[in-house]
Formats: sequence, C-alpha cells, structure tokens
Amino acid sequence: MKIGIYPGSFDPITLGHLDIIMRASGLVDKLIIGVLKNNTKKPLFTADERVELIKRVIKDKPNTDHITVESFDGLLVDFAKQRDAQIIVRGLRAVTDFEYELQIAQTNHKINTMIDTVFFTTSVEFSYLSSSVVKEIAAFGGDIKQFVPESIIQSVYDKFNSIRSV
Ligand code: PNS
Repeated sequence: MKIGIYPGSFDPITLGHLDIIMRASGLVDKLIIGVLKNNTKKPLFTADERVELIKRVIKDKPNTDHITVESFDGLLVDFAKQRDAQIIVRGLRAVTDFEYELQIAQTNHKINTMIDTVFFTTSVEFSYLSSSVVKEIAAFGGDIKQFVPESIIQSVYDKFNSIRSV
C-alpha cells in the first residue's frame, strides 16, 4: 500500500494546496495531510483550526475517502515513519522554492532513506499563490475568493475580525 504525506503549515489552505492534494491523491492509496503544530512562523489559525478547515474543504470533493488530515509535531520523517508513509509530497511553485525544498528533501532522505520526496509543479494559475498572500489581502478586507476554497472564505475573515476585536 502506497502511503503519502503532504505536510505543511496550511495557514490557511489555499487553492494551490488543494490542487496538489487532488493531484497527489490520485497517485497513492492513502494520502495523509500533515499540519505542522509547532510552527516558528506563528500561525494565524491554531493547528486544530487548520485541520478543521482542510477537512471541510476535502469533504466537498469527490474521491477523497482515502485522504485523512491530522496535525503533527517534531520531525516530519518521524511522523512519516509512524504512519508507514513512503512518500512525502511537496509542491514547487517557482525556482525560488527549489533551493529550500531540495535541502529539506535531501536532509529528510539522509535521516530516513526509506522515505522519498515527490515534487508536484504547481498548476500555473496558482504559481504566485501562498497562504501569506491570502492573509495579507484578507487582513485589509480584500477579496480572497480567487485564492482559497469557497467553504473557508468566511472563516478567514472571521479570524481577522476576532483578532481585531480583542
Ligand atoms: O507549508 P510549509 O510551512 O512550507 O511547510 C514546511 C514543513 C511543515 C514541511 C516543514 O517545516 C517541516 O517538515 N517541519 C517539520 C520539522 C522537520 O522535519 N524539518 C525538516 C528537517 S530539516
């Protein structure tokens, strides 16, 4: 059984992430979306919230029964080993992603040679897209419907509103 892990911060999930999820899910028997818990990037959403948002998005999509979503802590290769995953999935948007991704993929392979990283080139319409861009636009009340799945749009605005009202 081929088990893949698609790890990331997903803060929040974007249409670019969803594109990778749907394409990668066709290549494995089981795809685990791994949401990093203790992120130095200081996420907008808690890990539980990010997991819930992804689950909500996946629920609307066909042929996703073999996709699960969970948060993880610590080293990605350890999480992959615990889940019997042989493949790590990552997306490459542009050449600027490559250097960092290559280093991480090679380091992960060095730590555990049983695990390989498979890269998906992001579909061109999402090559500029990142969670940071989404947050920047939403923070200023801009329209994010071209960037994130429809079912989570309101949750992103609500999050910014709740932060402002504290
Ligand atoms: O969406 P991101 O923030 O680019 O995802 C980065 C992620 C979660 C894939 C990466 O930070 C990660 O794997 N973190 C877990 C710790 C780890 O295993 N680091 C790699 C060894 S150097």
